[in-house]
Amino acid sequence: MSESLYERLGGTQGITNIADDIVELHLVNPAIAPRFQNMKMTPAELKNAAATFFITGTGGPEVYQGRDMLAAHKGMNISALEFMAVLDDALNALTKNDIGQREQEEVLFVLYSMREQVVLT
Ligand code: HEM
Repeated sequence: MSESLYERLGGTQGITNIADDIVELHLVNPAIAPRFQNMKMTPAELKNAAATFFITGTGGPEVYQGRDMLAAHKGMNISALEFMAVLDDALNALTKNDIGQREQEEVLFVLYSMREQVVLT
């Protein structure tokens, strides 16, 4: 058996670093930054939600306590371009954290598979 994606992304610390970088990139990505200016949670809370969501979703401990992706994004009318911007930021954060191509592809696939729960809901 190969290691879980959780382990290959560097475990809890590695994923926390990646999630922090993804949120930081969102905050300065002109395509989506306005979305994160008037949200209910703080950027720190969003970083924690993103990290725990990834930890749980990649085979790590069950630490995610937030909403499911449909509930979290429902009513925001998120466009396909905004979804792509989030994937761009994820890819850039993975590269910055020296994650291998195989793992980058797996993460991108997992994120892409949530498109129907996030876009135009
Ligand atoms: C596969 C792609 C995505 C994933 C995995 C994801 C993940 C998450 C997670 C885990 C939360 C926290 C939910 C909670 O704690 O209850 C969240 C919240 C949020 N997401 Fe996403 N997201 C994605 C795409 C997007 C896109 C494309 C946008 C818009 C540009 C977006 C905007 C937001 C905003 C504004 C919040 C905060 C909502 C609030 O404060 O109520 N997300 N997302």
